[in-house]
Amino acid sequence: MVVGRPPRRGLGVSGVPVDPANEDTFRSWDGPGGEYWATNAATFDESMAAYLPPLFAAANVSLGERVLDIGCGNGVTTLEAARRSAPARAMGLDLSASMLEVARHRATEQRTANVEFIQGDAQVYPFEPGGFDVVISRAGVMFFADPAAAFANIGRGVRSGGRLALMVWQGIEVNEWMTAVAAALAAGRTLPTPPPGAPGPSSLGNPDRVRQLLGDAGFGGVDLTGVVEPMRFGPDTGSAYEFVFGLSFVGALLKDLDEPTRADALAELRSVVEAHLTPAGVQFGAAAWIVTAART
Ligand SMILES: C[S@@+](CC[C@H](N)C(=O)[O-])C[C@H]1O[C@@H](n2cnc3c(N)ncnc32)[C@H](O)[C@@H]1O
Repeated sequence: MVVGRPPRRGLGVSGVPVDPANEDTFRSWDGPGGEYWATNAATFDESMAAYLPPLFAAANVSLGERVLDIGCGNGVTTLEAARRSAPARAMGLDLSASMLEVARHRATEQRTANVEFIQGDAQVYPFEPGGFDVVISRAGVMFFADPAAAFANIGRGVRSGGRLALMVWQGIEVNEWMTAVAAALAAGRTLPTPPPGAPGPSSLGNPDRVRQLLGDAGFGGVDLTGVVEPMRFGPDTGSAYEFVFGLSFVGALLKDLDEPTRADALAELRSVVEAHLTPAGVQFGAAAWIVTAART
């Protein structure tokens, strides 16, 4: 494991310590992936809004507790934590400069002063030992190249008796928002199934793996509670289609298709989006775990 690397050129960011194994993830989130999330921050917040209350119910943040938010993105969860923990500081850590800019802008707009947003890789960030009472994350801990190293590093930042509350996606098979979109764009191909545990949205879908990783990282009493809430991709089919079209995994599925096949795949995607229009907007099935644990 290497902490720190020479400043990068050409990425607009320099001196961000990133584990070499996370370089590609960094390039993606600090590049187009993160920019898309930053530009569409309100839509993303809305898409996952249903997962905020169960995460905060599990985290049970109270006044004066120091909170660390891993993979904080546009900052909605860090700002919520800061409101609950004031006057103690909440810290949001993320790889994406664009999303952190949105988060800082929101903090200013909301006049929330007890919050800080830092660009870094949670796998190697030099957290102050025992510096936090609570660690939270909404969908921000599934992308580590070496999750054992990452959770051990995060664990060092939590005081003995401190808590952890995470939202992670369950397996791909119960997350229609991934399977239905991928199936629409398969265009006759048999799409590869990612190896179990490979970094990505459903890498922590297996409860045994989560218990093992957190146990090895110094957490006890690991508990997983299933939460089934829809992913909302937009109020109408037009906006939902535009939003889904911009997702990075959609771009990856389209990139090798010739023009006529691509057009057919996009027509299929549009009809799948239309088929998911409900009175509450365009919704796809989704399921997550709320993971809680205590630092031993
Ligand atoms: C799906 S987004 C979730 C963002 C935010 N938590 C939310 O709920 O809106 C995942 C986030 O994890 C961040 N991330 C991925 N790997 C990371 C790492 N190694 N260290 C810190 N952040 C990371 C990404 O930059 C991205 O912002």
